[in-house]
Amino acid sequence: METDAQSAPGERMRAVVIAADAPGTVVVRDDVPTPAAEPSLVRVRVHAAGLNRADLLQVAGRYPPPPGAPPDRPGLEFAGIALDDAPQAGLERGMRVCGLVPGGAQSDVVRADPRTLLPVSGAMSWDEAGAFPEAALTAFDALGRRAPIAAGDTVLIHAIASGVGLAAAQYARALGARVLGTTRTAAKAEQVSAMGLGEVHVTRDGLGGLEAFVRDRSADGATHVLDLVGGAYVAATLPSLALRGHYVVLATLGGADVSVPGRFLLARRLTLHGSVLRSRSVDEHAELASDARARLLPHVRPDAVWPVLDATFPLDAAPAAYARLASDATLGKVVLRLGEE
Ligand SMILES: NC(=O)c1ccc[n+]([C@@H]2O[C@H](COP(=O)([O-])OP(=O)(O)OC[C@H]3O[C@@H](n4cnc5c(N)ncnc54)[C@H](OP(=O)(O)O)[C@@H]3O)[C@@H](O)[C@H]2O)c1
Repeated sequence: METDAQSAPGERMRAVVIAADAPGTVVVRDDVPTPAAEPSLVRVRVHAAGLNRADLLQVAGRYPPPPGAPPDRPGLEFAGIALDDAPQAGLERGMRVCGLVPGGAQSDVVRADPRTLLPVSGAMSWDEAGAFPEAALTAFDALGRRAPIAAGDTVLIHAIASGVGLAAAQYARALGARVLGTTRTAAKAEQVSAMGLGEVHVTRDGLGGLEAFVRDRSADGATHVLDLVGGAYVAATLPSLALRGHYVVLATLGGADVSVPGRFLLARRLTLHGSVLRSRSVDEHAELASDARARLLPHVRPDAVWPVLDATFPLDAAPAAYARLASDATLGKVVLRLGEE
C-alpha cells in the first residue's frame, strides 16, 4: 500500500520533459510539481508508461496536445497504484490500475478521472500493464465498437507488427476472425506468424500483390481493414475489400492525405472510418473504458489479448527509449519503467 496519499503541495517528482534548449529531444527532470489530490480525480503512482508515436510527434513539435494537457510533457498511457479512493467508480486506494491521459503520463504520479481507469490483473507485469491501454483500447475501439467484427470475418491489418497492430490481431483472433496483415520487414512477418497472429504479406517494395494475397485466403476479400499506415495505403487497399467492407484508418505514417477511388467506394458499398483517441472528451473515454470492462477485459489473458513488449527502459534512459521507437525496428511496445517490477 502506498503511503503518500497526502502529497503536500510543492512536492516534486520525476517526469519526461521536452528539452527546452534542444527541441526535438527529451530529458528526465526531477523537479516537476507532483499533482495534488483533487476530489473528482484519482492520483496514480506510475510503475510503467508505454511510449507512442504521438509522443514522438509531440516531441518533434508536430502534434500539439489537446487543451488541458501539459505542452512539454509527453505520455499518453500508464499503469500503477491508485493513491486515492473513488468508490463511485469501484476504485480503492492501493488497487493496480492502468489508463489513458491526454499528456504527461511519463511521470511518477498522474491524475485521471477514475471512470477512465481499468483494473490490472495480478498476472500482468507492470511493464506489460504500462504497454496495455493505448494499443488495446485503440484496437478495441476500432474493431469492437466503430467497425465491429465477428467470427468468420477477415481482417487485414496494415503495420500488424506495431503495438496497436498486434493488439488488434489478438482481439480479432479472440473473436474468431481470420487475421491477415502487412509489414515492411520480413523478420517481423515471420515473428507475427510464429505467434499465431495471422498470415503476413511483406510490403517492403510497396503494396503490389496485396489483393492477390488477400483473395487467395479469403475469396470475397477482407470484411475489415485496420490501417495503421494511412496515406497512399488507403487507395491501394480498397480493391482488397469485400462488398460492404469497413475500412478504418487511424494513422498518417504513410502520409497525411488520403485519396479514395470513388468507383470502389460506391460499387462495393464500403464504409470509410477515421478516428483518434487522444482528443476525445473525458466522458467519451469513460464510455470506452466501461465498454472495455465488459467486452475487452474478458479476452485479456496470456493466450488471447496480452501486451507484446519490444523493450523496457528505466526512466533515466527515456532518450534511448524514444530512439528505439523511432527506429521502426520495434515489434510491439516500448515501455518506460518508473517503479518496482
Ligand atoms: N488514431 C488513434 O487513436 C491512434 C491510436 C494509437 C496509435 N495510432 C497510430 O497508429 C500507428 C501505429 O501505432 P503504434 O504505436 O502501434 O506503432 P509502432 O508500434 O510504433 O509501429 C509502427 C510500425 O509501422 C511501420 N511503419 C512506420 N512507418 C511506415 C510507413 N511509412 N509505411 C509503412 N509502415 C510504416 C513500422 O514497421 P514496419 O515498417 O517494420 O512494418 C513501424 O515499426 C501510428 O501511426 C500511431 O500514431 C493512432
